[in-house]
Amino acid sequence: MTQTIIGIDIGFGFTKATDGKDFLIFKSVYGEAVDLQIQEKLLGESNHDEHIQIEIDDTAYFVGELAERQSSNRSFTLDQKQFISSSSQVLALSALSKLVHEPTQSIKLVVGLPIGHYRQYKDELAEMLKKTHLFTAIDAHHQRIDYTITVTDVRVLPQPIGTVMDRLLGTLGMPKNQRFATDKIGIIDVGFRTTDYTISDKGRYSERGSLTTRNGISRAFVKISTKLKEACDIDIEIYRLFEAVDSGSIKIRGKSYDLKSVSEASFKQLATAIAADANTTWADDWDIDAIMITGGGGAVLAPYIESQLEGVTIPIQQDLDYRLHNVRGYLKYGLYTWQKGEA
Ligand SMILES: Nc1ncnc2c1ncn2[C@@H]1O[C@H](COP(=O)(O)OP(=O)(O)OP(=O)(O)O)[C@@H](O)[C@H]1O
Ligand SMILES: [Mg+2]
Repeated sequence: MTQTIIGIDIGFGFTKATDGKDFLIFKSVYGEAVDLQIQEKLLGESNHDEHIQIEIDDTAYFVGELAERQSSNRSFTLDQKQFISSSSQVLALSALSKLVHEPTQSIKLVVGLPIGHYRQYKDELAEMLKKTHLFTAIDAHHQRIDYTITVTDVRVLPQPIGTVMDRLLGTLGMPKNQRFATDKIGIIDVGFRTTDYTISDKGRYSERGSLTTRNGISRAFVKISTKLKEACDIDIEIYRLFEAVDSGSIKIRGKSYDLKSVSEASFKQLATAIAADANTTWADDWDIDAIMITGGGGAVLAPYIESQLEGVTIPIQQDLDYRLHNVRGYLKYGLYTWQKGEA
């Protein structure tokens, strides 16, 4: 029997997941679910696709956009320790509630951790996930589904390796791209909180040449929000800046503030720091064949970073949102690991 394999990439900014058919992406934010009667009024007109609500051990959570809009008690952390112990369970089960179709099912999971925490937390994370999870998902029409999901196997990968697996392996998990199996490739994964650097040497993760820094996109967002604070004396939670920065302006109390020049300057400055770290970290790795830039932040910063890197860059495939390359690679790695015998 083929078992369902699911890849989940729990980032500080977004949780990404796929079963190979569907991709799911939601903000890594969750909070207390509000009372049902209030919900009726609040949610009447909302977009039902976005509705992620689950109950674990009698605690009800709103997740993603729903939490951002409706929960008074939001939890959004940039602290790694807390992230693994509490947030990752809520976020992983939320993803499963959307991707698993049978209420009782066993699955295999591939998840990622930032390079800097890989060694320290990989066993803890695997242990937390590898068990039977009982939880309830509530849809926008208040329909409850009780899930009993048994996670029989867990693999934990260093996050940026997902992007390498995505290029190395085909959709059925079989190796397809020789270059990634023979070359030495540097990967820069720019996320929301962190930037990860690593080297894939002949398709294998090398701890040497690996580094995690705090130079994620949030660093630029902090600068932007400081400027806004100066301009209008409001503290904007940084995860609320995605859309504003994207559209180039933000409306606060009816007044529109232009964000284009401050975002551009902050992004350039961040890209310079990211490229400088790569050049330093890989100073002795002159035999690197090529460098790839991935992660959601990579989509924004790649042009600025590339021009300052010592080495040749290869663009990642443009067929998918940059944020999803790691998780597609996790899924392929799962297929490679667990189904190769069956093909
Ligand atoms: N369509 C989009 N919507 C929102 N953000 C986007 C989009 N495309 C690119 N981004 C950028 O992607 C970044 C998040 O990237 P990603 O999902 O890789 O981070 P993460 O994995 O959650 O963070 P970390 O790796 O630090 O844990 C955002 O900060 C934003 O700048
Ligand atoms: Mg990430």
